[in-house]
Amino acid sequence: MTTLVTGANGLVGSRLVARLAAAGERVIAVGRGPRRFSEAAEYVDQDFLSQKLGETIAGLRPSAVLHAAAMTDVDACEADPVGAWLLNAHLVESAALACREIGARLVALGTDYVFDGEQGPYSEEDLPNPRGVYARSKRAGEEAALLLARDVALCRVAVVYSGRKGSKRTFAISAAENLAAGKQVKAFSDQIVSPTLADNAAEMVLGVHRSGEQGIFHCAGGSIVSRVEFCRALARKLGADEDLVSPVRTSEVKLPAPRPLRCALKTDKVKRLLGESVPLALDAQLDRFLAERRA
Ligand SMILES: NC(=O)c1ccc[n+]([C@@H]2O[C@H](COP(=O)([O-])OP(=O)(O)OC[C@H]3O[C@@H](n4cnc5c(N)ncnc54)[C@H](OP(=O)(O)O)[C@@H]3O)[C@@H](O)[C@H]2O)c1
Repeated sequence: MTTLVTGANGLVGSRLVARLAAAGERVIAVGRGPRRFSEAAEYVDQDFLSQKLGETIAGLRPSAVLHAAAMTDVDACEADPVGAWLLNAHLVESAALACREIGARLVALGTDYVFDGEQGPYSEEDLPNPRGVYARSKRAGEEAALLLARDVALCRVAVVYSGRKGSKRTFAISAAENLAAGKQVKAFSDQIVSPTLADNAAEMVLGVHRSGEQGIFHCAGGSIVSRVEFCRALARKLGADEDLVSPVRTSEVKLPAPRPLRCALKTDKVKRLLGESVPLALDAQLDRFLAERRA
């Protein structure tokens, strides 16, 4: 049993690799540039803009591919739609075709941004209505995975963050640093989301993978909050002044990509599959986030 993980230096991919390696499974971690995480796994340096993932899968013949690589910066996607479609749609298509060819299971990562945010929180049954280049390209990638792979699960995550050293800087890290330093943090009051600790996302994605189930699963955190509420909860955990969190409405800030407003993900399906407490509530997530930062 060999599992190939793409996006192995990323927030979720690095935790998928670490968890698989910790379980004693053979993992091939595919990342761009030098390895930044998990010494335990075999590592392949590959840039998917110049090297073909499909050929790598066909050559290595893993039993499963956990596909976490993507162009994740939503504003950068607006500026580079060709790159976004290559990475978020065509790459998934080639992974799905290669998995079908060799009889491998595909577990692809998806996003809350496939919804327009008008009527969230959303279940797996709700109809996507993606807006913006990132959202549309990721939705096309979902469709490619679900149409083309024979054994496939699609795991949507949302607002991913990690406190681990060397991991990508996210909103949560800037907020924690500023709050701890007594500095003001601006946060959207009208964006309602499902924040997801990267390691918890990886736990759910692996749970879905190992279950052998097919179809869409929302592998997001268990609490639905505004970004202001997220920052206030973080301030309380840090013993910082909650009043440092300054609410801003999304309409006050001009950003290249559209931000869906009520875009939280319902996690009932993954709870039924993996257990009620597996999608971590915000309080438990923040404890783990701060422990990761201290480690
Ligand atoms: N982050 C979020 O808030 C969020 C929210 C919803 C859904 N998602 C989805 O969750 C999945 C995992 O994302 P993440 O949160 O782990 O984000 P991430 O940390 O940005 O990971 C994405 C990975 O893809 C890699 N990648 C990008 N372009 C590549 C290329 N040309 N060749 C090879 N690798 C490339 C990146 O490599 P580098 O490390 O070299 O840049 C990065 O490690 C993605 O499908 C994403 O769309 C993420």
